[in-house]
Amino acid sequence: MNERNACVVGMQWGDEGKGKIVDLLSKDFDIVVRAQGGSNAGHTVVIGDEKFVLHLIPSGVLREGTTCIVGNGVVLDPEQLLNEAEELRSRGVSVGGNLLVSDRAHCVMPYHKALDAAKENALGDGKIGTTLRGIGPTYADKAARTGVRVADLIDRTACRAKLEQQVPLVNKMLEHVYGAEPVDLGAVTEWAVRMGEAIRPMVGDTVDFLHDALATGKAILFEGAQGTLLDADFGTYPFNTSSNSSVGGMVTGTGLPPAEMGRVIGVLKAYTTRVGSGPFPTELEDETGERLRERGGEFGATTGRPRRCGWFDAVAARYSSALNGMDEIALTKLDVLDGIDPLKICVAYEIDGRRVETFPAQVEKLAAAQPVYEEVPGWHGSATSPDAADGLCPEAAAYVQRLCSLVGAPASIISVGSERDQTLVR
Ligand code: GDP
Ligand code: IMO
Ligand code: MG
Repeated sequence: MNERNACVVGMQWGDEGKGKIVDLLSKDFDIVVRAQGGSNAGHTVVIGDEKFVLHLIPSGVLREGTTCIVGNGVVLDPEQLLNEAEELRSRGVSVGGNLLVSDRAHCVMPYHKALDAAKENALGDGKIGTTLRGIGPTYADKAARTGVRVADLIDRTACRAKLEQQVPLVNKMLEHVYGAEPVDLGAVTEWAVRMGEAIRPMVGDTVDFLHDALATGKAILFEGAQGTLLDADFGTYPFNTSSNSSVGGMVTGTGLPPAEMGRVIGVLKAYTTRVGSGPFPTELEDETGERLRERGGEFGATTGRPRRCGWFDAVAARYSSALNGMDEIALTKLDVLDGIDPLKICVAYEIDGRRVETFPAQVEKLAAAQPVYEEVPGWHGSATSPDAADGLCPEAAAYVQRLCSLVGAPASIISVGSERDQTLVR
């Protein structure tokens, strides 16, 4: 294992606090890389009274001297990238030579967003609840070998040829399958050429760059997006995203071998949240759920949608831990549990009258799962206790200890607020 490197991976349904953890750790790394997903991600970093929400640019951008890479596995909305870079610059963050975008990444085109919306519409009540950022249709084109890569976007001739072939087919789908508005070939081509010109200075061969960085002993931090339970293979299919958001996606999304991934830091929220549709066994549709949402500020960083909230699900967390080979836990939002007593932890499911301790492959099974809870004491003041050796009050320390033993990894970072210094590092 490369001891210098590390992967930060979401262990639940996204929004675990990866942005905060990546920002915190990035001071010890030369390079921060995004390997999958796209602008469906919303990673929040709070520095003093400033709040930044990153969608495409790695959260390491807020540390001067860090190089940020958008890897080949990302689906890149060029307009979003430009807007994000511009917004960061307007707030005094330097974005220029410190950002490199893979020429192999696939582009989210305007018609991918139109298809995302049309498909969701057609699904009606069965919709996935996507972020409507065009993620699924872009990855579908990648798999079907009909996508537009960044290298094509910056090559006018290649780009025109691809669009002339692809847009008429997409329009057949939009109009005749979904009854939606077609897109205009001329307008899409003009947009693509303009975007290609604008992003050209940021584009390069990130695979070469990362291999050179390894050879010169640079430390690389991999920034996961979404979470393992939204993974295209291991998530709650079809209520998931279209990339591998578990650790495997870091390998294919960067071109670096598995042995270079370094230690796996799994980000786990001290309770559970989910945005969009799909089963969620420990969901609380009551006052406690409302309290978690309010105290935790559980509203989507990308879409503003209220997040569904519930108790910590150790069955799901153990499954994610195994899939990723989690070495350490970064436990976030422990402070949100202040004042809730008792707390509940889901230690097993009951499905069709049988106790089950593994995460089922079928959403129908998961939807039928009744959580089996263990009740543990909560705390009435703050989770933190400056006088305690570990910085936690006894009940919070016991809660953390119980989660770690159920999931099978130690907590190296405990986060008790959104700011950098609201963190206990072990
Ligand atoms: P990400 O997508 O995994 O980066 O997470 P999001 O940024 O979408 O959501 C996490 C939210 O929780 C953000 O608003 C963070 O500022 C906030 N946050 C992160 N860690 C903590 C914590 O320990 N306590 C509290 N109260 N908020 C936190
Ligand atoms: P970060 O990186 C939480 C969810 C959507 C939807 C499903 C599919 O901030 O943790 P998509 O647009 O990807 O096709 O939507 O996945 N989803 C997320 N939920 N955090 C995210 O990212 C998410 N990215 C996608 O809500 O249920
Ligand atoms: Mg988020």
